[in-house]
Order: sequence, then C-alpha cells, then structure tokens
Amino acid sequence: MTKEALCTMARDAMENAYVPYSGFRVGAALLCADGAVYTGCNIENASFTPTVCAERTAVFKAVSEGRRDFSAIAVASGKDGGEAASFPPCGVCRQVLAEFCSPEMPVYVLRGSGEIGEYTLQDLLPFAFTPKFMK
Ligand code: THU
Repeated sequence: MTKEALCTMARDAMENAYVPYSGFRVGAALLCADGAVYTGCNIENASFTPTVCAERTAVFKAVSEGRRDFSAIAVASGKDGGEAASFPPCGVCRQVLAEFCSPEMPVYVLRGSGEIGEYTLQDLLPFAFTPKFMK
C-alpha cells in the first residue's frame, strides 16, 4: 500500500464524518502489518465531550477486531464541502497511537495541495508514556 493510496482512503473516510457542530470532517486510514486497512471518521455529540476523533475511531475499530500490529496511519480533514487541509492528530489521539504503534511509525497528513506531510509518531509525541512504563 503506497502512502498516496492510504491518504486516498483517509480522504474518502471523511465522507462519513458526523459533524453537525463543527462542520469539520476528518478521515483516518490505519494500515496493519498484513496490509489490511481500518478507516475511521470523527463522530460528534450534542454533549460535545463524547466526540471522538477519526484517528481513534480507526484504532478502536482495528483493536476491537483483534488487530495490534500497525505500520502507518494517514489523516485527511477539511471544512464541510472544502478540500482536505490536514493537520497531524490531536494530543489524545497521539497518546492512543503510542499505546499500540512503534515510535518510528509514519503518520501521513494529506494537505490541501495534495502534497503529503510525513511525520513519525515520535516526532509528534516525544517522551511518550507507553506500556513499558507499567511493567
Ligand atoms: N478531530 C479529529 O477527528 N481528529 C483530530 O486529531 C483533531 C480533531 C475532530 C474532532 C471534532 O469533531 C473536530 O475535529 C473539531 O475538533
């Protein structure tokens, strides 16, 4: 799976975003080591705090189906009806990713121009609190 293909899946996942409050659609595509992909979108709530980000939707879908081995994630976002103009995952999603993914795992971000920004999880969350500290 190329990073371009993974970003396309993230962009397509924006379509199912439930965003009546922000109008800000986010899609994520999480690649498993065996090539399977789990997508997710943001799902907002009238009570606001239960809102879940696209990245966590994708991770929780995958983990709930027994997946643990991830090799990349792509994120796309943009205002309703607008083109993708993405940012890297929020702090809470970075922490959730750090639970399951290696610090070197690439995080791709689809920008408005179609250009793909690339980070590692470690770039985004240095000195992460991870399961090894619980041993
Ligand atoms: N959102 C995500 O889906 N991912 C992030 O990493 C940051 C923010 C969503 C949550 C909310 O529905 C909207 O974007 C505005 O914050």
